[in-house]
Amino acid sequence: MKDAFGIPQSLLVLGGTSEIALATARRLIARRTRTVWLAGRPTPDLEEAAEHLRGLGAEVHTVPFDALDPDSHETTLGKVFAEGDVDMVLLAFGILGDQAHDEREPSSAVRVAQTNYTGAVSAGLVAARGLQTQGHGSLVVLSSVAGERARRSNFIYGSSKAGLDAFAQGLGDALHGTGVHVMVVRPGFVRTKMTTGLPEAPLTTTPETVATAIELGLRRRTETVWVPGALRVVMSALRHVPRAVFRRLPL
Ligand SMILES: NC(=O)c1ccc[n+]([C@@H]2O[C@H](COP(=O)([O-])OP(=O)(O)OC[C@H]3O[C@@H](n4cnc5c(N)ncnc54)[C@H](OP(=O)(O)O)[C@@H]3O)[C@@H](O)[C@H]2O)c1
Repeated sequence: MKDAFGIPQSLLVLGGTSEIALATARRLIARRTRTVWLAGRPTPDLEEAAEHLRGLGAEVHTVPFDALDPDSHETTLGKVFAEGDVDMVLLAFGILGDQAHDEREPSSAVRVAQTNYTGAVSAGLVAARGLQTQGHGSLVVLSSVAGERARRSNFIYGSSKAGLDAFAQGLGDALHGTGVHVMVVRPGFVRTKMTTGLPEAPLTTTPETVATAIELGLRRRTETVWVPGALRVVMSALRHVPRAVFRRLPL
């Protein structure tokens, strides 16, 4: 169960090597989280991440999980829920892709869409059912500011995040009143391995700042979190810029 301040005792991360997810796990372990499940593709990095969190005092398990294999999600995630209550699920997997390459290679573009959207629809529904059966818990979904309005420079990734974001909002509405809380997190540009080598955007932030915003959102049971918060204002203005102008902006 979460404590009186909304901090989970147990956390399931989907995308167990995500730098944003691991910063969040570190922050929550420093608060009160005791059990962490890192679900991800079985790699030395996943085991290394688990070992690091164990060193912080948590009981950490790894579990094989592939977003691109939705048929396996029910079994894989079902096993985690069968071990005991999961107070928070952090849906953190995703790929950025390479826009120019993916435009030329539709099969690569489909991989972005299947990882970020289809994989999340499947894993999100399975996780939501597990939380609903318990009658409590939070599903925290790492969406992106990129999904707010598709940009010429990354519309394949952006459209997958737009789909994910709409899905998560709808799921949150479906679960309203069940005791399960869905929180959509929309970070801007975050310095992680996903963005290594890319030119930094204005309002660039860090995994630790996203983790802080997630913790605050959990305490307040917020439904939508922008990181940094100023992006909410920026995007509400950008959303209304006419297409003919928007496509010329250097975004
Ligand atoms: N960094 C940013 O600027 C930014 C901004 C907004 C939103 N986000 C979103 O935040 C989330 C976390 O991003 P991050 O910056 O922490 O990136 P990251 O460190 O690159 O983490 C991405 C994670 O996705 C996992 N993943 C990729 N494909 C997978 C698959 N088929 N099955 C299972 N796991 C898979 C990776 O696992 P492997 O180790 O197996 O590759 C890794 O754990 C992503 O959804 C991203 O879109 C990031």
